[in-house]
Amino acid sequence: MGEDKDAILELVRKYHRDQRVDGFVPGTTPVLTSGAVLEESDRVALVEAALEMRIAAGPSARRFEREFSRYFGLRKAHLTNSGSSANLLALSALTSPQLGDARLRPGDEVITAAAGFPTTVNPVLQNGLKPVFVDVELGTYNPTPERIAEAIGPRTRAIMTAHALGNPFAVAEVAALAREHDLYLIEDNCDAVGSLYQGRLTGTFGHFATVSFYPAHHITFGEGGCVLTNDLGLARLVESIRDWGRDCWCEPGEDDRCLKRFDQQLGSLPRGYDHKYIFSHVGYNLKSTDLHASIGLSQLQRVDEFGEARRRNWRLLRDGLDGLDGLLLPEPTPGSDPSWFGFVLTVQPDAPYTRQELVAFLEGRRIATRRFFGGNLTRHPAYADVEYRIAGDLSVSDIITQHTFWIGVYPGITGEMIQYVVDSIREFVAKHR
Ligand SMILES: Cc1ncc(COP(=O)(O)O)c(C=O)c1O
Repeated sequence: MGEDKDAILELVRKYHRDQRVDGFVPGTTPVLTSGAVLEESDRVALVEAALEMRIAAGPSARRFEREFSRYFGLRKAHLTNSGSSANLLALSALTSPQLGDARLRPGDEVITAAAGFPTTVNPVLQNGLKPVFVDVELGTYNPTPERIAEAIGPRTRAIMTAHALGNPFAVAEVAALAREHDLYLIEDNCDAVGSLYQGRLTGTFGHFATVSFYPAHHITFGEGGCVLTNDLGLARLVESIRDWGRDCWCEPGEDDRCLKRFDQQLGSLPRGYDHKYIFSHVGYNLKSTDLHASIGLSQLQRVDEFGEARRRNWRLLRDGLDGLDGLLLPEPTPGSDPSWFGFVLTVQPDAPYTRQELVAFLEGRRIATRRFFGGNLTRHPAYADVEYRIAGDLSVSDIITQHTFWIGVYPGITGEMIQYVVDSIREFVAKHR
């Protein structure tokens, strides 16, 4: 058996090496915004898990959770089936009746950035809470602590916002604000694994951090996500809500970890009702699998290398595009060292060309572009009939909706590709003086 497995894995390695990788042909090879960067070790890890038929969450999922929480220096990580699920779980955990007076209740407010990805905001609505939208800054694309402070009202109970395309918001200051006003802080760290603020990893400042492992993200295993926290009590709530809402915390296949499986009375159930089937939350099933976690373990080995590539590519673009007419280049938040998700460009409203023209030109050259996710989310049909509050105005989010896009810095992009992107943008701008 062991010999067969070794032989199969050796073949998998050979198969991987035999995959033809074409060289970069400018104008023909697409320069993508993002994509999975998978190596031999990832393929081997996945096949090994498949050979062992570990199709549900098991030892690899548990190990990934331990190693990922260690990477952040946090006490607990819970794997989920997506970053969106991680956001839903983190916020839902804060509505748990087990938190007593500290729980979030329907109608309570959660401050969030108006410009961004919808599933940072949706859990607020899905839990009957009210988003309070604040505007972001041009250049960093994050809300400032001052804007967040101005948005705090009598019913505000939490701040849940993302580090924009890898660029940390001023999270130490926002965490201090949260402490001062007794608010929860959830860092949507889906786009920022490895980013630093004042030398400390983003995701380690709030009550929760969430991560996505979709292929666009810093490490990937297809679909996946994670909720991280340093608070063991909050971690238990996450685990329960992720796993159908159950009260029991036995691993799959395990029985009676609490040593009182048939010796409890909860709710109005009869005493001794099997703890495995006692539900203390209105939960979901948002679990991941060992097939996913096995690639995750292999990808995690390269998280720093990936971050370096992202930083290098971003720097090459930043230097190469410096000083071009009509383009606002991105800025790291002061005090931060971002592990960039993408390179954000805003075409100045008074530039002699438009974002549409520049994007069409780049796409024509096979240089992929993406919008700043939803731009001003309040302008989308999905939010037309929901209750929210806008603190201040959203004029920058509106500018972003019209004039902003981003291009790739992910580790699959080579120095040669970056040079092609820089030359293309320079050529476009020179033609539009
Ligand atoms: C900031 C942010 N939060 C959440 C998500 C959702 O992650 P997922 O696609 O894994 O659900 C994304 C997706 O890209 C994102 O960019």
